[in-house]
Amino acid sequence: MQKIIDLISEEMKKAFAAAGYDGELGKVTLSNRPDLCEYQCNGAMAGAKQYHKAPLVIAKEAAAQLAESEVFAEVSVAPPGFLNLKLKASFVSDYLRQMRNAPKFGLEAPARAETIIVDYGGANVAKPLHVGHLRPAIIGESVKRICRYVGHDVIGDIHMGDWGLQMGLVITELRKRQPDLVYFDENYTGEYPAEAPFTIAELEEIYPAASARSKEDAAYKAEAMEATHRLQNGERGHRALWRHIMRVSVEDLKKNYDSLDVHFDLWKGESDVQDLIPGMVDLLKKGGYAYESDGALVVDVKEETDTKEVPPCMILKSDGASLYNTTDLATIMDRMEKYHPDKMIYVTDKRQDLYFEQIFRCARKTGLVDEKTQLVHIGNGTMNGRDGKPFKTREGGVMRLEHLIREIDEEMLRKIQENAATKGYEIDMAEAAETAGIVGLAAVKYGDLSNQAAKDYIFDIDRFTSFEGDTGPYILYTIVRIKSILHKYAGQGGSLTDPLVRDAVNDSEKSLMLELAKYNAVIETAYEEAAPHRICAFIYDIANAFNHFYHETKVLAETDEEKKAGWIALLKLTGDILETCIELLGFAAPEKM
Ligand code: ARG
Repeated sequence: MQKIIDLISEEMKKAFAAAGYDGELGKVTLSNRPDLCEYQCNGAMAGAKQYHKAPLVIAKEAAAQLAESEVFAEVSVAPPGFLNLKLKASFVSDYLRQMRNAPKFGLEAPARAETIIVDYGGANVAKPLHVGHLRPAIIGESVKRICRYVGHDVIGDIHMGDWGLQMGLVITELRKRQPDLVYFDENYTGEYPAEAPFTIAELEEIYPAASARSKEDAAYKAEAMEATHRLQNGERGHRALWRHIMRVSVEDLKKNYDSLDVHFDLWKGESDVQDLIPGMVDLLKKGGYAYESDGALVVDVKEETDTKEVPPCMILKSDGASLYNTTDLATIMDRMEKYHPDKMIYVTDKRQDLYFEQIFRCARKTGLVDEKTQLVHIGNGTMNGRDGKPFKTREGGVMRLEHLIREIDEEMLRKIQENAATKGYEIDMAEAAETAGIVGLAAVKYGDLSNQAAKDYIFDIDRFTSFEGDTGPYILYTIVRIKSILHKYAGQGGSLTDPLVRDAVNDSEKSLMLELAKYNAVIETAYEEAAPHRICAFIYDIANAFNHFYHETKVLAETDEEKKAGWIALLKLTGDILETCIELLGFAAPEKM
């Protein structure tokens, strides 16, 4: 479906043309003065210069063409030449009825379904997930869902850190604790045990212990580096241990991401492309891109227009070892070959901005990506505590993701109990705990996504879990409220599928309708800008408009059955749109709250 703003603009453009002016002047925008009008057109001011006429005259002439318009109920001219517009209720209700019947509420399918890879999450194997991993997971999941909903073929890839020093550290620590393990016997040629020699709980404790020790003990660190080296060079015992670490850790990661309702199509990692590195290095050398500098192999990526220093992209260290860079480049090469993506979107902490700039330039310059393939980096800001510094535990340590989620769920449960107590109804504790989990997730995700990704924000558990204001629980509360009204209506014998939206009878109803009508434009923008916060702002406006309308309108008590049915249709559309939007953000609504 055409966007409502485009339909309105077309009508205004016709009026300008009919009055003898350039039709393009008739472009309509949202109103800057919602107290005066719903939409506005400033074209008369722009036309004044072109036509050497007073803007007021031009505006009046255009307005005169619209007396019989099916679109505008009111076109008023305000000095110096604004056209203030109000839409006909019938035009708006007709648009909403069309939305109801159209797939995806009138969002048009893209001309061609593109292949898009979203690289997000970025968990590191053997290390616990911490709050720093929360934002890329939440934002990436939403971006992935938006791209997919719009109609593209989307692949979400976690791109695990599974090949670095942390693996050598874990192996070294294991060797200290259990030196007799068969994995460390260099003469062993038999099969290795199928069971890992550690549990996830042990693994979680091993890495921090090893990491701490390596910082104090240089010999220990050297050993860990040696172990990493051996692993990377394919030593059997090390590889076998590595596979155990992978299996135990990935299983746990999946559980953690599942609890966030974050799901990856590919569980690829840095290790998966190691075999491609020698070939890639050859290619970069043969193409004349890579050269030696202080023993290391680098590719220059600075450009004349740079205003900041962009250092060369390092491909191999002087000892021949590959780096994080190397792996990302090899992954790009691998993805090009396997999926021919039109676009690759990376979501990581914005402290990696320069890093991705280097990688993207290097991939482009060396032809690892096609000219047509877009590379996008979404650098997210930090989630801070109330002190404005990265969020920590009360003791000042790095907060584990699991613990953060648990804190939120507990706070959510407290709020649910409090809410029930003030409203004077009984709750079933098991049910309330389940609801708290669902609403708690919405609280975290909405609290995160409602901020522009690049901005830092303060994690304020009390605000995020509040039922009022610009929060996830408020949105869910609105959805639950709508569902409950629809349920009661159905209980009275009303049909939820037959009613059609009717012309608005009051301002609050019309405001809600005007908000809903923006749906396709909002989703398109959220997709183009890879910006979930656009959807948050949209549903917050809708929730406000709905609650205002509902406050003023006694829907279920209405005795005019047709009128009532029209409102029910509007409620249903509002609920369906809200639910579709939260699905794109990555959370869901409970049945009751
Ligand atoms: N594992 C990395 C980290 O914890 C994030 C990976 C991001 N993705 C990528 N393709 N480099 O910082």
